[in-house]
Amino acid sequence: MNNHHFDNPDLILSHGHSNNGVSSWQSPSNIALIKYWGKSTGQIPKNPSISMTLSEAHTYTTVKYQPRGSQDEWIKFTFEGAEAPSFAARIEKFLGSLSSIFPFLKELSLAISSENSFPHSSGIASSASSMSALALCLCDIERALFGTLSDDSAFLAKASFISRLGSGSACRSVYPHLALWGKYGPLDESSDYYAVPWQGQEVFNSFHDDVVIVSGEKKSVSSSAGHALMDTNPFAATRYQQAQDNMTSILECMQTGDLMRWGEIVEDEAMTLHALMMCSHPSYILMKPGTLICIDRIRAFRQETGLPLFFTLDAGPNVHILYPDSIADKAQDFIKSEIMPLAENGRIIPDQVGIGAKQMV
Ligand code: DP6
Repeated sequence: MNNHHFDNPDLILSHGHSNNGVSSWQSPSNIALIKYWGKSTGQIPKNPSISMTLSEAHTYTTVKYQPRGSQDEWIKFTFEGAEAPSFAARIEKFLGSLSSIFPFLKELSLAISSENSFPHSSGIASSASSMSALALCLCDIERALFGTLSDDSAFLAKASFISRLGSGSACRSVYPHLALWGKYGPLDESSDYYAVPWQGQEVFNSFHDDVVIVSGEKKSVSSSAGHALMDTNPFAATRYQQAQDNMTSILECMQTGDLMRWGEIVEDEAMTLHALMMCSHPSYILMKPGTLICIDRIRAFRQETGLPLFFTLDAGPNVHILYPDSIADKAQDFIKSEIMPLAENGRIIPDQVGIGAKQMV
C-alpha cells in the first residue's frame, strides 16, 4: 500500500446520478496510550500508536451536497453556526488535496457545518474528532453516489485513511474502544496508512478519562511543528524503538488485564512525550505548575490506596485521569477533593471509552 492506494479516477459523476444529498456523522476524540510523536512526509508515523476512543468529546459534522454550477462556490463552511475563515481555509486545502481519491468532490457544491460537544477553549484537541467526522461524511457520500464501500470494514478503513491525511491521530477515532495505527511487526493487519480496531479485556471498554483543564490557553506549539522537532531530536531513534517495545508490553497487559503494569507504561509514554519536547530545539515546557501537582497527587493516591488510577498527557498542560469503571466512586471522590482545586475554574470534563463514530443522517 502507499498514499495512492485509494486513488480512483472512475469516481466521477455521470448524468444519470442523483447528485443531491446529505451526510451527517458524529465522531469522537481519542486519547493515545502509546504516543504518535514524529512523522515522515505523507503523514506516515515514525512509530505505532494505540489509543482509547472517547465518547463525550466529539464533533458533529453535516455535509450537504448538490451539483455545482459554474458560478457556485465550492465549499461553504460554518463552525457552530458562524463562518470560521481559518478552519474553512484548512478544510478547503484538505479537500483540494483529495482530488485523486474523490474526483467527484470538485463536481459538487458542499455546505459543511460542524460543531463540537466540548468548549473551544478547553484545550481538548479537536482535530481528531473533526477530521474523522469529515472523512466519514466523504466516504458516506462516495457510498451513496457510487454504491461502493458497502462492506463496513472497508468503509472504516478508507475513512481512517482519509482521516489520517487530515490529522494523523484522527485515523484512530473511527473505531470502538481501542485503535492501533502504524506498522507494528507482530500484528499483520497493522498499517502506517490507517488504524485498525484492537480488542483487549472487557475492563478497557469502559475506562474513564476525566480531563483536568489546568489551562484552556491555545497551545504554544502546534502538533505539526511538534512532530517536526523530532527530526532533529538527539533521542529520536531510541524513542521510536521504545514505542515499539512499549507497544508489545501494553498489548500484553491489555490481553491479561494487568492494570498496574499497564498504567506504568501509559505514564511512561506521557512523561517521555514531554521529555522529548523539553530536549527539542527549540525546547518547550508544555506542563504548567498545576500539571505537576496533579501528577504528584495522582501518584500519592495510588501509593496510599493501591487503586489503579493513572494519568496521561497530550501535547499540552491538561491532565487525563484514567481509571476503570469499578473504582469510579472512589476515583471521583478523590478528583473532587484533591484535583478540582487545581483545575482552571474548577473545570474537569468527564469522559469514558466509547463505541466510535456514529452516522446521524
Ligand atoms: C501528542 O495527530 O495532532 O496527541 O498528524 O500533525 O495532525 P498531525 O498531529 P496530531 O498529533 C497528535 C500527537 C499527540 C499524540 C497522539 O495522539 O498519538
